[in-house]
Amino acid sequence: MGTALGGPMTLWYLARGSGLVLLAVLTVNLVLGIAIQGGWHPGSWPRFAVQAMHRNLALLAVVLLIIHVATIELDPFVPVGWWAALVPFVSPYRPFWLGLGTLSLDLLAAVVVTSLLRSHLGPSWWRVTHWLTYLSWPVAVLHSLGTGSDTRLTWVFGFEVGCVGLVAATVIFRVARATRPRAAVRGLLMAAVASTPMAVLAWSAAGPLQSGWARRAGTPTAVLASAAPPATGARGQASVPAPFTARFLGSATASPRGQEETISISGRVQGGDGGRLAVSLVATQLPDGTVAVDRGTVTYRPAAGSPVYTGSVLSVGPGSLILRLTARGGTAVPAELTINGPVPASSVSGLLYLGSAPAGRAGEDGGQDS
Ligand code: HEM
Repeated sequence: MGTALGGPMTLWYLARGSGLVLLAVLTVNLVLGIAIQGGWHPGSWPRFAVQAMHRNLALLAVVLLIIHVATIELDPFVPVGWWAALVPFVSPYRPFWLGLGTLSLDLLAAVVVTSLLRSHLGPSWWRVTHWLTYLSWPVAVLHSLGTGSDTRLTWVFGFEVGCVGLVAATVIFRVARATRPRAAVRGLLMAAVASTPMAVLAWSAAGPLQSGWARRAGTPTAVLASAAPPATGARGQASVPAPFTARFLGSATASPRGQEETISISGRVQGGDGGRLAVSLVATQLPDGTVAVDRGTVTYRPAAGSPVYTGSVLSVGPGSLILRLTARGGTAVPAELTINGPVPASSVSGLLYLGSAPAGRAGEDGGQDS
């Protein structure tokens, strides 16, 4: 059931959070590894201390990877079998993009195992397998951009492109200081590496940042809920739908007019009955800094097209709107929209609870219907 803490939402937050921290740790460790190979060490730090840091960061990455995979597997919203965490490209959920994560895991596992067996394998074997790190990292970045549901959040996307920029800068620095191969070849290599952040930006603009990416990336229809039939009562009238909790991803704009401000929030509902939700609020800023909502309207159009729910905003609390929706000829349905972060923003995310539970507690009754 979709409580904010201790339930599937906690798993989802942990899955996303651990993924992002994991990418940060892998990036820092890759940068450190490239720098160590180039003979760099910070200030008076002895070489063994830098190497110990490199090893401990790798250990931290393994722990984070276990948390990331375990929370993804336990989260009932995303249908990923345990085998898909080990065998690339067999997941029913975004097979290719998730498969890249699995591939990265397999490559990293090979690096960890060969590092542990280093004394038995000999340095040249170990060095060859260690190069797999260079391959596993870009594969993990593509996985993050293609699978993550937060890629369209400005700070998440900025962070991911920032990781690419940091690694590119380190590689360029390393190649510039090298003496082999010939200068012309190194120049070409540096130009190619320098262009990777731009290439990632261009590809993301045409792919993960576009609306409709979830479907193109291979999210199962059940998760998109695009085929969910409208709930109908015994006499064919729209009735109370099955309660659900779903993710909401959209944008929020504000247009001030005198003392008043019209806030428009609209976006996609991922999960539940899917579709689109639009809220329009007319609010007045009070002298004590709080906001009083004069009137608010809401329209929810499930992915199946009908019934269309319209209604009003009953109250506004910190980060949440209590709504009442009614399908034409149907019963009133309580709903709650929670929004994470400030409004207005080009990208907002939150949760939509819709169902038969009393408004304000609906989330404790609704599961992540998928
Ligand atoms: C080194 C390997 C991996 C790294 C660095 C990594 C990193 C990430 C990152 C940064 C995200 C984006 C989170 C967000 O948008 O908030 C993500 C999402 C995801 N990862 Fe991984 N991952 C790895 C391996 C895996 C594996 C093996 C699986 C398979 C179980 C997996 C499954 C997922 C799923 C399902 C999501 C989407 C979560 C969501 O936003 O709803 N990842 N990963």
